[in-house]
Amino acid sequence: MSAPVGDIGLIGLAVMGQNLILNMNDKGFTVVAYNRTTSKVDDFLANEAKGTKVQGAHSIQELCAKLKRPRKIILLVKAGPAVDSFIQQLEPYLEKGDIIIDGGNSHYPDSIRRTQELEAKGLLFVGSGVSGGEEGARHGPSLMPGGSTAAWPAIKEIFQKTSAQVNGEPCCDWVGETGSGHYVKMVHNGIEYGDMQLIAEAYDILKRGLGIHESEIADIFTTWNKGVLDSFLIEITANILKFNDDDGVPLVTKILDKAGQKGTGKWTAIAALDAGTAVTLIGEAVFARCLSAIKDERVRASKVINGPQREPFRGDKQQFIDDLEQALYASKIISYTQGFMLMRETAKELNWNLNYAGIARMWRGGCIIKSVFLGDITSAYEKNKDLESLLFDNFFNKAVHKAQPGWRRVIAQACLWGIPTPAFSTALAFFDGYRSEVVPANLIQAQRDYFGAHTFRVVSGKENSRLPKDTDIHINWTGRGGNVSASSYSA
Ligand code: 6PG
Repeated sequence: MSAPVGDIGLIGLAVMGQNLILNMNDKGFTVVAYNRTTSKVDDFLANEAKGTKVQGAHSIQELCAKLKRPRKIILLVKAGPAVDSFIQQLEPYLEKGDIIIDGGNSHYPDSIRRTQELEAKGLLFVGSGVSGGEEGARHGPSLMPGGSTAAWPAIKEIFQKTSAQVNGEPCCDWVGETGSGHYVKMVHNGIEYGDMQLIAEAYDILKRGLGIHESEIADIFTTWNKGVLDSFLIEITANILKFNDDDGVPLVTKILDKAGQKGTGKWTAIAALDAGTAVTLIGEAVFARCLSAIKDERVRASKVINGPQREPFRGDKQQFIDDLEQALYASKIISYTQGFMLMRETAKELNWNLNYAGIARMWRGGCIIKSVFLGDITSAYEKNKDLESLLFDNFFNKAVHKAQPGWRRVIAQACLWGIPTPAFSTALAFFDGYRSEVVPANLIQAQRDYFGAHTFRVVSGKENSRLPKDTDIHINWTGRGGNVSASSYSA
């Protein structure tokens, strides 16, 4: 048998898989393609991959035989049992040091488990976030690999050449241990949900609040795309709003207002709750999709529940549009602040060494949330890798201060109009809570102790003989009940 020629193998010839293969081929790598329905391999070789160096395989055994060692095999199959099934099928044909890479949207606990299971067998596992959809896969996605650290030197060149490049830097770097690659991709998707919800709220305010037509809103987004909001999602929003159906009506107005979701935003919100981190904006973005999904109930509610009479806007329209831009920018800063807080917390918990500047750099290009803004986040973490929160960085601190008046005016006006702004509002509520030295949690502690003897602590400097320092205290608030406090536990 001839010597193996394949630099890397790829299983799963759906749209992402095919495009990634062609991209890797363009970058000079020989890819061996395999698909469970093998006729797809032949179709691919005869059509899209015609004239390329791409090789086909009609069995897992053939795929493995055609790969140089250490073998590197990317799985681009549906997240879940299919990934485990392919890993199982591959194992008999692999040798120590070979690398299985899962490029699907897998849930990070699965990637933690798979890394451990494969390392125990002498194999290496990488769970890699791949973002950018079809276009990204073909011309340069954002790649977020994490898992068996020993695998990185072997895949680095292929990954960094295949990924998008911004200012000559690849949008791919080693994320960290075990499931961290998929964790970071999950947070990316959560942030994507947040960005999309913020843009949708801005559209709603412009349309229902100011009464502006889609074609003009498209122009506003096009202008915004030249400033601090310069990003892929703002750009495509302008294009979407300009896109008319055959009758000249904006197509977007004919689309049913029920948002779908595959679950990665929900995973981020759940991870945030589990970590005890206030990632409120992504949470609201997920809930907004849930509320959108109960269309029939909303239709019934709209018939019997009235909001305020929507007065026409009498202020300075351009000023309000500028305020809206600032509201969107400030809310976005909060969303990313929260996302990075979550990653920090989880890294602490799971002992991951995450490189936050590297993560922001990976997201600057290739992916759905790519933006100029991510360059500023990269700089913030390059200046201080231990940055507690983006709001402590000079650049973002100034930006959020500048945006604050407009941000408040927009939310106040939307409130008076009765236009929902869950993402804008939760961002501002977080901002006001985060910058508050004192929050009313003292009362919550008192209530907990009153009804359940859950104890509280005393503010430093306010201690006395009844209220000792650094001690969990229970007070008999009513004169009834005992003095015994509840045992402590956390759900
Ligand atoms: C990407 C996207 C992608 C995601 C879709 C759909 O980075 O390319 O995040 O991975 O699956 O955007 O997600 P929802 O169906 O949950 O909106």
